[in-house]
Amino acid sequence: MIPDLKTAIPGPRSRELAARLREHESQNVTYQDESWPVFWEEAEGANVWDADGNRFLDFTSAFGVAGLGHRNAEVVQAMRAQSERLLHGMGDVHPTALKGELCARLSAMTYGRWGYGKGKVVLSNSGFEAVETALKTARLATGKAGVIAFSHAYHGLGYGALLGTDLPKFRGPFGDQLAEVTTRLPFGSFDLPDDETIGAVLVEPIQGRGGKVIAPPGFLAALREWCDERGALLIFDEIYTGFYRSGKCFACEWDEVVPDLICVGKALSGGFPISACVGKAEVMDAWPESGGEALHTSTFLGHPVGCAMALKSLEILERPATLAMVQRASGLLEEALKKLTHDEVVELRGRGMMWGVELRRNAGPLLADLLARGLLFLADGPEGNVLSFTPPFVISEEELNFGIAAVEEVLGP
Ligand SMILES: Cc1ncc(COP(=O)(O)O)c(C=O)c1O
Repeated sequence: MIPDLKTAIPGPRSRELAARLREHESQNVTYQDESWPVFWEEAEGANVWDADGNRFLDFTSAFGVAGLGHRNAEVVQAMRAQSERLLHGMGDVHPTALKGELCARLSAMTYGRWGYGKGKVVLSNSGFEAVETALKTARLATGKAGVIAFSHAYHGLGYGALLGTDLPKFRGPFGDQLAEVTTRLPFGSFDLPDDETIGAVLVEPIQGRGGKVIAPPGFLAALREWCDERGALLIFDEIYTGFYRSGKCFACEWDEVVPDLICVGKALSGGFPISACVGKAEVMDAWPESGGEALHTSTFLGHPVGCAMALKSLEILERPATLAMVQRASGLLEEALKKLTHDEVVELRGRGMMWGVELRRNAGPLLADLLARGLLFLADGPEGNVLSFTPPFVISEEELNFGIAAVEEVLGP
C-alpha cells in the first residue's frame, strides 16, 4: 500500500505524546524536534500507522526486526497461544520445553547445517547481551583476555559490548571505565598483529550501523586462519545480518567461513526481545556445569513467549517460500537502487535486503523529509551519511519503487 499524501508530520496527537514523554523520560533517549518523531500505534507487513492515523511505509524493518513483516499473522498466533498458557518461566531454574526446542532449532540452523553436528546455546534478551555471552565464552575457553574488534563496529552498548563497539559517541563518556583489552583494527584490514594474548576476534560480516560495509573478499577467511593459528575464537555478530537479511540465512555463508561463536537477535522472534549466542559444542563446554547457580543468566532468559515467537519465526524462515520471497525482493531492491544515480550519491553497497546509499552529506535532514512523505528511513555510518534500505521482505515492488522515487525527490534536482 502506498502512503497517502501527508499534510502535517508529526500530527497533533504525536506532538502531544512527545511533550508528555519529554516530561518523564530521560532526555537522552528519544530524539525530538519539530519534525520528529511520530508515535507508532499499529503496524502490518511493511506498513505502520501513527497515533494521528497517518500511514507510513517502513524501509527500516524497525531496526531489522520485522524481516517477515510487522505483526506476521502466524507469529502473532504463536504469541497469543503461548501467552494464554504461561507468561513467564524460570529461565535457568525451572525452564519450559520451549527453551530446549529453541536451543535445538538454533543449533540445527547453524552448526548442524554447517556440518559440525551441533552447537550449544545461551539465550538472552537483547543483542548486546548475546555479544557479552560470546566474549565471556571466549575468555573461558581460551584463558585469554584480549579482544580484536574493528573500526566502525557496532555490537551494542552494554559495558562488555562496548569493548567491541567503536563509534566514539557511544564509547566516549565511558571509555575510562572499560578494560583496556581491545586491539582496534581497520575493518577489512589483512594486516593482523602477531599477538598471543588475544582470545576473541569479534566482527560483523557486514557492518550494519557502521554503514552497510561488506567484509572484503577473503577477510573473514583470513580472520579464521589467524584465530586457528593462535588459539583465539572467531565471533560473528550476526544480530543485524542473520535470518536472511543479507540474502542468505547468515551473512557468513556468502564467504563460507564458520565462526566459533555466532550472535543473533533482532529478527529471531520478529518482535520480542530475545537473542542468542550459539557456539561450537566444544567451545560452549568451556562453561562449567551448573552446580546450582549459573555463572551467566538473567531473570527473563528463555522467556516462553519469546521462545514461542522465535520458534514460529524460524519455522517460517526455513520454508523455501521465504527464501524465494527474499530473493525476489532483493532483486527488486537492488535493481531499483541501481537507478539512483544522483550527484549526491557516493556509493551504493549492500546485499540481499540490506543496502546503504552513501551520500556526500549527512542524511539526517533527509529523514524528516522522507517521514513527511510517509516513509520511515534511518541513517547509518560514522558520519550519519549512509541512507539505509532494510525493508521487510514482504514489501511489494510498487512500495519499493515508491520509496526509492521519494528518495530521489528529496535529494533534490
Ligand atoms: C550488529 C549488531 N550487534 C549488536 C547490536 C545490539 O543489539 P541490541 O540493540 O538488541 O542490544 C546491534 C543493534 O543494532 C547490531 O546491529
